[in-house]
Amino acid sequence: MAPFTTPGLTADSAATVVATLQERLSALNDLHLTLKHVHWNVVGTNFIGVHEMIDPQVELVRGYADTLAERIATLGESPKGTAKAIEDSRSWDDYSLGRDTVQAHLGALDLVYVGFITSHRDAIETTGKLDPVTEDILIGQTAELEKFHWFVRAHLESYTGELATAGATSEKAAADQAR
Ligand SMILES: [Fe+2]
Repeated sequence: MAPFTTPGLTADSAATVVATLQERLSALNDLHLTLKHVHWNVVGTNFIGVHEMIDPQVELVRGYADTLAERIATLGESPKGTAKAIEDSRSWDDYSLGRDTVQAHLGALDLVYVGFITSHRDAIETTGKLDPVTEDILIGQTAELEKFHWFVRAHLESYTGELATAGATSEKAAADQAR
């Protein structure tokens, strides 16, 4: 437990908030690496549009990792930003596509964002009861991540509003459905 925390927060509350933030920090670090991996591996028709669409999101997500790491430090704990910290936090699988088409990567990214946003919303729920300041940070991040998820899904959507990835439960299945 941290020797100090921010005023008005109990040590127990801070410990729970920090644990939640550390897991989301590792998830953001993993996400910006995954997005760069997609940026490098996407091929085929419409390459340049998606290759270039990814980079602003990488910058945004790296900035969000910085915000959560500094929030952990503000709460009196040490943020862990190493590759091992990512691995230790991971309850999700490594991104499963290598070189692949634009549609396949966008299909897989749809599932990546479903998982990420669901967990960020869970973190909002957990921290909201204990520390509304942290909750507010996570809410702001989630709104922008949901907007980027829409950018991804707009490539997978039919004119009747159906998603090509509907019902897929793995990145590979989502990629196959999106091809
Ligand atoms: Fe690049």
